[in-house]
Amino acid sequence: MLKEMMVGVVGAGTMGRGIAQVASAAGHQVILMDLDREALEQAMAFLTKIQDRAVEKGRASRDEADALLARISTGSSLEALSGCGLVIEAIVEDSAVKGALFSGLESVLSSDATIASNTSSLSITALAAGLKHPDRFIGLHFFNPAPLLPLVEVVPALQSREGLGDEMLALMRQWGKQPALAQDTPGFIVNRVARPFYGEAIRILEEGVADVATIDWAMTELGGFRMGPFALMDLIGNDINYAVTESVWTAFHYDARYKPSFAQKRNVDAGWLGRKSGRGWYAHGEGAVLPEPRRDKDLGQDILWRILVMLINEAADAVFWGVASAEDVDRAMKGGVNYPKGLLAWAEDVGLSNCVDALDALRAKYGEDRYRCSPLLRARASEGRSFFA
Ligand code: NAI
Repeated sequence: MLKEMMVGVVGAGTMGRGIAQVASAAGHQVILMDLDREALEQAMAFLTKIQDRAVEKGRASRDEADALLARISTGSSLEALSGCGLVIEAIVEDSAVKGALFSGLESVLSSDATIASNTSSLSITALAAGLKHPDRFIGLHFFNPAPLLPLVEVVPALQSREGLGDEMLALMRQWGKQPALAQDTPGFIVNRVARPFYGEAIRILEEGVADVATIDWAMTELGGFRMGPFALMDLIGNDINYAVTESVWTAFHYDARYKPSFAQKRNVDAGWLGRKSGRGWYAHGEGAVLPEPRRDKDLGQDILWRILVMLINEAADAVFWGVASAEDVDRAMKGGVNYPKGLLAWAEDVGLSNCVDALDALRAKYGEDRYRCSPLLRARASEGRSFFA
């Protein structure tokens, strides 16, 4: 697709403003639309600040920064979007509100314009079903912050016209992204495969094996993850993280692998949401003292290994069910949530049979379906064959 194509972004919040920046940086004229004029003003002020900082740091010239900003105009009515060839929706996560927006968009856009949703948790196919022309609809799931994280999950609806997925993959590459093609299933790739990072960490805590600081230490110091699970949940917000877990669990018809935890629910009930409320798994804010981890390498390796094999199992199962290719699953976890290594490549480094043995041992110990080994992981281990072959 050409740079001449005008791109619309609806919703000027956290995601919309970042997506507008990415599209403009790629050379498109961008219309950023929001019903709330104040949100538009705040978004433009934010984008201006980001560009000023880029100039200060020498990452862009003043002319480039000014040109990027000049390519973004704002509007508070749908009519402003009528000339767009692609509109990306990033409004509130509510299917009825999104549905009303799509009907409005279809009445102002040309028949061949593409409509995309940045939804994290709603079914792309169900959203498409509300459109007059569902064949033009697709999911484009960016990660926060959109200008910095390279991953975009491209999620065709069942009804998307043939070729739309490939066109969007090509466009996202033109925008400098590393897109991954995902089947429209709950959580797509990242929000499904990442569940054990939180869920298994909380299980280890609930069982009294280790405290939050020790689990975080094991994952960062020994595993190389950028943040530990508890620090990350406090950053995301326990309310948001719990809601994602619950929505994936419900969408999977209460599969035990995704079961939410009582401990996190209690935090949410108490209003211990994380950094934004001053308290979560940790105390935050002025005077807060971080607890010391137990720097015991044996314990830390046990912790890392248990969470890692659960992540690997989830990654293998996503490939087994055709959610995405092995390459795309690994690309997604590195590009969307900064994992230090692709999980399937990591599995091959540590040995597939070791992963299978660890899962079988967990299943034998707990007798829970949660620890069932993915058929693909087991098959590849017994065949001695790579996921990437
Ligand atoms: P946000 O709350 O920061 O911004 C939403 C914006 O949409 C607000 O400015 C609001 O005024 C506007 N809005 C609401 N209804 C509207 C309508 N009918 N027409 C025009 N504008 C409308 O939300 P955020 O966090 O940017 O999320 C947007 C979407 O992106 C959601 O679907 C969310 O699930 C998804 N998402 C969010 C991520 C995140 O980390 N925040 C990551 C990836 C996806």
